[in-house]
Amino acid sequence: MTLNETRQKFLDFFRTKQHAIIASASLVPEDKTVLFVTAGMQPLVPYLMGEKKHPEGARLADAQKCLRTDDILEVGDNRHLTFFEMLGNWSLGDYFKKESIEWSFELLTSKDWFGIDPAKIYVSVFEGDTSLGVLQDDESIGYWKEAFARVGIDASVENGRIRMYPKKKNWWELPGTGPCGPDTEIFYDTHPNFPLENSSGQAGNPHDPKLHGPKCHVNCDCGRFVEIWNNVFMEYEKKEDGKGGYAYAPLAHKSVDTGMGLERIAMVLQGKETVFETDIFSSIITAVENKDIPYMHEERRYRIIADHLRAAVFLISDGILPSNVERGYILRNLVRCAVTHAKILKLPDDFYRAPIEVIHAYYRGQYQLLPMETIATAVADEHGAFARAFERGMKEFHALADAAQGTIKTIRGIDAFNLQQTYGFRLELMMDLAKDVGVAVDEAGFWEEYKKHQEVSRAGAEKKFGGHGMKLQTGELKAADDAELAKVTRLHTATHLLQGALREVLGPHVRQKGSDITAERLRFDFIHSQKMTDEEKKKVEDIVNRHIREALPVVHKEMPIDDAEKTGALMFNKEKYGNTVSVYTIGNEENTISSELCGGPHVENTKEIGKFKIIKEEASSAGVRRIRATIG
Ligand code: ALA
Repeated sequence: MTLNETRQKFLDFFRTKQHAIIASASLVPEDKTVLFVTAGMQPLVPYLMGEKKHPEGARLADAQKCLRTDDILEVGDNRHLTFFEMLGNWSLGDYFKKESIEWSFELLTSKDWFGIDPAKIYVSVFEGDTSLGVLQDDESIGYWKEAFARVGIDASVENGRIRMYPKKKNWWELPGTGPCGPDTEIFYDTHPNFPLENSSGQAGNPHDPKLHGPKCHVNCDCGRFVEIWNNVFMEYEKKEDGKGGYAYAPLAHKSVDTGMGLERIAMVLQGKETVFETDIFSSIITAVENKDIPYMHEERRYRIIADHLRAAVFLISDGILPSNVERGYILRNLVRCAVTHAKILKLPDDFYRAPIEVIHAYYRGQYQLLPMETIATAVADEHGAFARAFERGMKEFHALADAAQGTIKTIRGIDAFNLQQTYGFRLELMMDLAKDVGVAVDEAGFWEEYKKHQEVSRAGAEKKFGGHGMKLQTGELKAADDAELAKVTRLHTATHLLQGALREVLGPHVRQKGSDITAERLRFDFIHSQKMTDEEKKKVEDIVNRHIREALPVVHKEMPIDDAEKTGALMFNKEKYGNTVSVYTIGNEENTISSELCGGPHVENTKEIGKFKIIKEEASSAGVRRIRATIG
């Protein structure tokens, strides 16, 4: 059964149970405080809360596009993905535990539907929690026993077919406020002949402890059991308690929210060990494979390329383009990461074309995708932009390798980190290249720099998102960090444009006295003695915005300080600089808008900045004015 057929069968099954089939919502949530839809229930929150009646009724089913960035570094193992489809069925104040459990069991095990051997199905239920005032879920245990008994299987807590777990494993909620409740999870046993830990915590007969752990049980981490479905019984509302925490209150309207990863269930039904061996992924990988460096030798890289290109097709189709902020930044990273691996695998420059065609042809019957050419062009543009930075990074890398010091010639951590920051060069790529030229990279030093950098940006991200009363998931926080950095970068470049415009409107005496940038705004202090008029402010804003619209390149050069002085680059304190300086120039040779000594970071093109706006102009000290401005 192909992935497409599996999706169809799921929906057909719930149609027979009087569910309306609804279309997937966009990957971009309506609630803009999160980056992406990460679960099928997200677009349905108001209905699950009983706040609104769904126009299609109280029984719904769908396949929802989801994207999770928290597992991004895990992609390439046998099961993690960024983009995936979540199959789900919902009762909005209609049926509850009984039907939910019976139907899940029927769909999975009936020969008319998925036909999985029921002996391979195991389940987990909630053991209760006194601090929540919620009891052990005996009701679900009872329905599971009945379901298994109908196919002749004695299922009990004692024999390990049903196992209870605490809140950490069997309770489902979104990171912020919203509907939540205990859940029951359904697992598939990949090695049914091995024994299980019994209810008193004793290991059964010793089995392969390396593979399955000495005490294997349904939801242990050894990988023997694959979670295929999660049925959540939405009975509570998670609310802010007014003391910075959360409290749980029963919901009048009891609902069911289920989620089954389509790629996972397809893997099980196709008898494969990894999602990357299922029909869709093996077609993508075949389309991109370089026969000289085959998949069997480089599984991880090919899997990453396949996952990231598939995610890119869906993100672009939902209106996202690569950029330096938020969702666009995630997309940019996915594409750049795929390109990096493609380079290591020595794939041709247009390596992405054939797999995108495969993905497009496979999914267009189910989802509204943008035309194939539009998607390919967006990826090609990003590939082009990255390839230029990549070439420069390559040069810089070789310079660093030539200059590497030590008995074992080693590139310093800080240099490796700067290479990554400036050219998007991944550590992994550097390590690969380093091997080729016989040098080492100080990995520990790299991560030290990385951590320092993270700490600075994380503090900012928490401030920014704290106000929404929601905690972002780890991956999203990381993404938020990155988005934050991207915004600071845009503000940096805007500050250069601002100084240029002030000099144009007020005169060449204008000079920077100070600058302070946060993710919210820039603050720029400059020499000038009078209060600016409204007209002058408007003129400055218009000039900056014109230069943004003109999409001017921002060029970075390293040069001796004396040469920099000769070019007329602005420097506000010559003594502060070393012999070699870094100069950022905006515009081209005929029309240089700004040229300044600066450590960066800056955007590559002014069009990335967004709309510039002056918020306030005031005195800072005698003869010095201060401007606060933002970008939208
Ligand atoms: N909302 C539940 C999940 O995402 C079904 O696992």
